[in-house]
Amino acid sequence: MSAMESPISPLTDREFGLFQRFIEKSAGIALSSAKKPLVAGRLTKRLHHHRIASFSDYYELITGGSAPDETQLAIDLLTTNETYFFREMQHFDLLRKLAAAPRASRRPWRAWSAACATGEEAYSIAMVLADALPGEEWEVVASDISARVLATARHGHYPMVRAQHIPPAYLQRYCLKGFGPEEGTMLVSRMLRERVDFLRLNLNAPALPRLDRFDVIFLRNVLIYFSPEVRRQVVSRVLELLRPGGYLFIGHAESLHDCLGPIQAEQPSVYRKV
Ligand SMILES: C[S@@+](CC[C@H](N)C(=O)[O-])C[C@H]1O[C@@H](n2cnc3c(N)ncnc32)[C@H](O)[C@@H]1O
Repeated sequence: MSAMESPISPLTDREFGLFQRFIEKSAGIALSSAKKPLVAGRLTKRLHHHRIASFSDYYELITGGSAPDETQLAIDLLTTNETYFFREMQHFDLLRKLAAAPRASRRPWRAWSAACATGEEAYSIAMVLADALPGEEWEVVASDISARVLATARHGHYPMVRAQHIPPAYLQRYCLKGFGPEEGTMLVSRMLRERVDFLRLNLNAPALPRLDRFDVIFLRNVLIYFSPEVRRQVVSRVLELLRPGGYLFIGHAESLHDCLGPIQAEQPSVYRKV
């Protein structure tokens, strides 16, 4: 605590319950009681920022309707955004095969990174499509509930250490190495950045926006944060945006065993819409 910061009353169980319900209602995220220290840790700086002494008062601020930016910030702080390029490489190997397969239609190939965090997943998809579909039309839509991660994603500018899983040929072709003040960083090429459309989207909203259907949807490492009921609803809404015959990818630690829908398992964590 700095000399200027006033003391904050510790987060009580009752207050933690308020934030649990807030994030469940707004994002569908189920926070277990083990997350209490994490919630206190992440929100404390916002209480200091507003010179608020109790978590109850901060809760009033974010739910009172008068501070929508702060409500978004609280959602940002209560989400977990860990990600990396080419996470779960088998998915990208399959994506390459699917995109390169001959097809009758000339319409653009479309992929959706549905919880894209800071953008690494979306750019990994874009690299594979650029490689597999040279000279053809393709589109990547990438979305997340957190405005903060989307800002990073749009920049496409990352510390070089984050590039370690990018295949060397792709690194050379689709990324620019920083020099001078940008030493130690890399920038995703403008060609790829311009073809990924980032938007803020809450998967837990009653209805998703009317997007054109996708050939593949990456819904990875986000279902794990939802309660079973929210997970079922999210999967059902997302599947409406998948083309029949299209593929849904989920995280390896996730499961759709209790989600009914027009899908069949193709391989672990990959489903096909029938
Ligand atoms: C752990 S990251 C996963 C990133 C990437 N898909 C991957 O597998 O590496 C989870 C992301 O889900 C987002 N998220 C959580 N709840 C969400 C919701 N209701 N709607 C949209 N995105 C959500 C978080 O903001 C976070 O960026």
